[in-house]
Amino acid sequence: MAKTKTTFFCQNCGTQYAKWVGKCNACNEWNTIVEEVIQKEESRGFGRNWKQTSVIKKVAKPLKINDIAINEEDRIDTKNNELNSVLGGGLVKGSITLLGGEPGIGKSTLILQIALSIDKKVLYVSGEESQSQIKMRAERLENTNAECLVLTETKTQHIFKNIEETQPDVVVIDSIQTLHTDYIEASPGTISQIRETTAELIKFAKETSTPVILIGHITKEGAIAGPKILEHMVDVVLQFEGDRNHTYRILRAQKNRFGSTAELGIYEMLGSGLREVENPSEILISEKDESLSGTAIAATLEGMRPLMIEVQALVSTAVYGTPQRSTTGYNTKRLNMILAVLEKRAGFRLGAKDVFLNIAGGISVDDPAMDLAVVTAILSSNEDEAIPQDYCFAAEVGLAGEIRPVNRIEQRILEAEKLGFQKIMISKYNKIPSKKHKIQVLVVSKIEEVFNTLF
Ligand code: TYD
Ligand code: MG
Repeated sequence: MAKTKTTFFCQNCGTQYAKWVGKCNACNEWNTIVEEVIQKEESRGFGRNWKQTSVIKKVAKPLKINDIAINEEDRIDTKNNELNSVLGGGLVKGSITLLGGEPGIGKSTLILQIALSIDKKVLYVSGEESQSQIKMRAERLENTNAECLVLTETKTQHIFKNIEETQPDVVVIDSIQTLHTDYIEASPGTISQIRETTAELIKFAKETSTPVILIGHITKEGAIAGPKILEHMVDVVLQFEGDRNHTYRILRAQKNRFGSTAELGIYEMLGSGLREVENPSEILISEKDESLSGTAIAATLEGMRPLMIEVQALVSTAVYGTPQRSTTGYNTKRLNMILAVLEKRAGFRLGAKDVFLNIAGGISVDDPAMDLAVVTAILSSNEDEAIPQDYCFAAEVGLAGEIRPVNRIEQRILEAEKLGFQKIMISKYNKIPSKKHKIQVLVVSKIEEVFNTLF
């Protein structure tokens, strides 16, 4: 009888240990080492039933870089522009894409929607929902794809058997944490199972040139659950995020072997599934008839994409001894810094006031160009004087109270112009684009100047 082999894995980071220890040396977490039974058999593949004939073992030869042909057809159009652009032009054949996100954010919805709109044969394997549950979800979505096959299965050997019978063009696994392989005895969701099943799927994808999309759960800290090496193993890591109380969702690439990670996709969750948002700035600026004090529009960039975002501030006299500083969608430390700069460099007495800051739409952006809009929103609320609605801002604020330049100012100005803003305030030190704009470009170098221009 074969001896049972066990190994110890850190459940947080996936580091392997020969014996149990109390603290993981790699990630410094306590009590995360768990013993897992691993009993591997000699021949490991992506399934025993798989015919290996397609795999011709040959030694690869180096080619001159100029002689290597790129086949444009190696990408599959997902029929979803936002996803296509995040992927860098479509699903690459033979690639493994991992989609992570919090529970309930809409991962299954997004992928099912793709499976239904793509004109390829898709095998949607779910380990979480029954076939009828998936059918019910599909009913709510607009598209239908007669070639979409749905399978409820968690054992990789059975999945590969089905793949062999149905020969799909794209395989979807929802989710990687539910899969298990016969070759390892640990339970599904453990580090060794995740690593092994992913390895099998990668082997399958590479050998058959079939793209595989994996859905992955994320931990409390926001990382994809499972070994860190999972992210190294796959070709593309996408993150689906958003505030569950809001309807907007952002799809970002954290890693992409076939394109840039700067692109991002924006969706809106509706009753009929996820709608692609082509012009995100329009939905991020709340609609109102008259100007209100405490709001300012920032011309930001998320990745390559310009986004006009509304910043709302409320400054009021502190009711309790210690003034409160509270933010949604913005870094609290950065807010404290800006308040200190306003106090010290421009003489605004905000020390005894409560300051609340809110980024409309529940989107969190970390573009330093937000600073000036944050400053003006705070000043506007403090003065109780509204900033005209046709103003927008794009500049960073330094510790000396100086207004600093930001990158790609031209793109920001163009977006503001396109959306009908009349004035944009930027740093004096930004090279003012040579091109003539319809929008009026105001340049400032100090906080006092900002104040004097606006109020
Ligand atoms: P789901 O895709 O199941 O999330 P995940 O796979 O990331 O856990 O999304 C579930 C949520 O999406 C659920 O709360 C309901 C909502 N939803 C809609 O608002 N509209 C829709 O058309 C669908 C299918 C789901
Ligand atoms: Mg799901």
